[in-house]
Amino acid sequence: MILLDSVTKKYPGDAEPALDGVSLHIEPNEFVFLVGKSGAGKSTLIKMLTKEEIPDSGKIVVGGIDLDYVKKRHIPSYRRRLGVVFQDFKLLPRRTVYENVAFALEIIGMSSKDIRKTVPKVLELVDLLPQANKFPGQLSGGQQQRVSIARSVARQPKILIADEPTGQLDKLTTEEIIDLLRKINDFGTTILVTTHNENIVNNLGKRVVTLKKGRIVDDQKNHGIYKLDEAPLDVSVSMAGRIIQAPGHALNPQIARKLQEKKVINTVKPVEKPVAKPAAKPVAKRPVASVTKNAVRPAVRKRKITKSNVI
Ligand SMILES: Nc1ncnc2c1ncn2[C@@H]1O[C@H](COP(=O)(O)OP(=O)(O)OP(=O)(O)O)[C@@H](O)[C@H]1O
Ligand SMILES: [Mg+2]
Repeated sequence: MILLDSVTKKYPGDAEPALDGVSLHIEPNEFVFLVGKSGAGKSTLIKMLTKEEIPDSGKIVVGGIDLDYVKKRHIPSYRRRLGVVFQDFKLLPRRTVYENVAFALEIIGMSSKDIRKTVPKVLELVDLLPQANKFPGQLSGGQQQRVSIARSVARQPKILIADEPTGQLDKLTTEEIIDLLRKINDFGTTILVTTHNENIVNNLGKRVVTLKKGRIVDDQKNHGIYKLDEAPLDVSVSMAGRIIQAPGHALNPQIARKLQEKKVINTVKPVEKPVAKPAAKPVAKRPVASVTKNAVRPAVRKRKITKSNVI
């Protein structure tokens, strides 16, 4: 669905490349978070897919289209096949919510009859039917972003790309927007989202690709978490519904991820400061304070937890 093969991009005048040999394969219907520090190359990667920027070398194929063969005059029609959502919404300020969505469909040549059928359905999906006749300036940030998403999904794109779609939104609104993206993903659209929002990434448990200085340094296919470096992770672990390791223990990231796949980890987040020696064996000496002694059977408390008996 999306394929990047050894993609490198250096902007004129920059000492270092913004993307340095990036290879990435995203399957149909995946939901992928792209994370990394500011300047890591996230937006540049997105711009490679929308053909706003051209790579210096490497191959990019999106939805079966080899971007080398998309000529300049065909770029607008290529982009219309994708859904693209931006941090600053990019709505038409003098058009109503209804007209913003309808306009996106006029551009692709949809008949007036089909537009009249489609727009209300899409506005209902994003929960904006009551606001149909308002102008963007009369909406909250979250509502404006929902119009922008409605405009993109109205064309039923196979792929939706969003560069920090929640960058200007508060916590609750961010959750709403991400929920909406998840719903769209459930309908079969592949989603690629860049974000700095650690909580959202950790709560969703989707694939997480980490960029660092233009390179992919981590790709967690399932139950991914937000982490900018391959540092030890702070985890709490439970087995058979019982907590066997309290939060506050550093664990090797690979082991942590395996435990997470087996659904025995409760919380996982990067440790604040790198720990010199990550604990190799997640051994629970005694139950945590929040679990009363009586609630934990002695057999469980005595059991030594090793890598081999939990993975
Ligand atoms: N138009 C440009 N001209 C020159 N250098 C650029 C340009 N756009 C980006 N860069 C550089 O490329 C690198 C990657 O930038 P990019 O915008 O892709 O980072 P990012 O991960 O999206 O960061 P952020 O989280 O701040 O949005 C940075 O060093 C940046 O300064
Ligand atoms: Mg960016």
